[in-house]
Amino acid sequence: MSTEEREQQRYLQDRGEIPTHIAVIMDGNGRWAKSRGNPRIFGHKAGVDSVRDITEACAEVGVRHLTLYAFSTENWGRPKGEVSALMKLLVQSLRSETNKLHENNIRLSTIGDIYRLPPSCRKELEYAIERTSENSRMELCLALSYSGRWDIRQAVKMLAEKTQKGEIAPDEIDDEVISHHLSTSALPDPDLIIRTSGEFRMSNFLLWQAAYSELYITETFWPDFRRKELYHAIESYQDRDRRFGKVAVSKAQKEPTII
Ligand code: FPP
Repeated sequence: MSTEEREQQRYLQDRGEIPTHIAVIMDGNGRWAKSRGNPRIFGHKAGVDSVRDITEACAEVGVRHLTLYAFSTENWGRPKGEVSALMKLLVQSLRSETNKLHENNIRLSTIGDIYRLPPSCRKELEYAIERTSENSRMELCLALSYSGRWDIRQAVKMLAEKTQKGEIAPDEIDDEVISHHLSTSALPDPDLIIRTSGEFRMSNFLLWQAAYSELYITETFWPDFRRKELYHAIESYQDRDRRFGKVAVSKAQKEPTII
């Protein structure tokens, strides 16, 4: 880390609250590659460098959980060649990055229907998860074969079975119980969701969990999204007035004011 980066981090930490959980829709790899006259996989490969940089920057600035939307349920519908290249890239990245994650005291986890992933991928993931399981500085959660609707569906199925067996009464199903049955049960809801490449949509990501997340959308394609812009996103988050559907509390008056 350069002196300038260290100063920028300190500035952010003094400026306000660092989001506990940042989630990222990494988009624009294909367009980034195409604009350079290269095949799409070239963009995914460049995207791995951003994954590394953003993971390190988040850990250094004090983010506790970083969730990356690496492969959606819908991505299975991409051309076979691209899907297998992405799976290969995931295996290679896990092989080359796990030591670094471990050295940086970062714990790896996943959400999603990982049983759909090829066995080689699952094996590498299981190894990396196990290897880093005791780490405590930050959690890096990869959303793989994930979609918000899949997550809600599997929670509903689980709860339906439990009600059928009489383990839970329908009246007992509240927000907390539902959150507890989602694949993200061990994660707090994201404070900040970043989406690169300028699209204004959620693309089936963390639909339940995003209820009160702040959004940061940038035109930058994922392979160009680096720590400088992450700092900018955190600054933007610090300027937001999070009301969670309630009213703002004026710090001077200590009384709610309706705005
Ligand atoms: C979206 O860009 C990106 C993906 C579907 C995959 C993201 C994967 C990586 C960054 C590499 C591997 C990840 C890890 C965690 C090692 P797009 O293909 O939809 O781009 P486009 O919208 O321009 O077509």
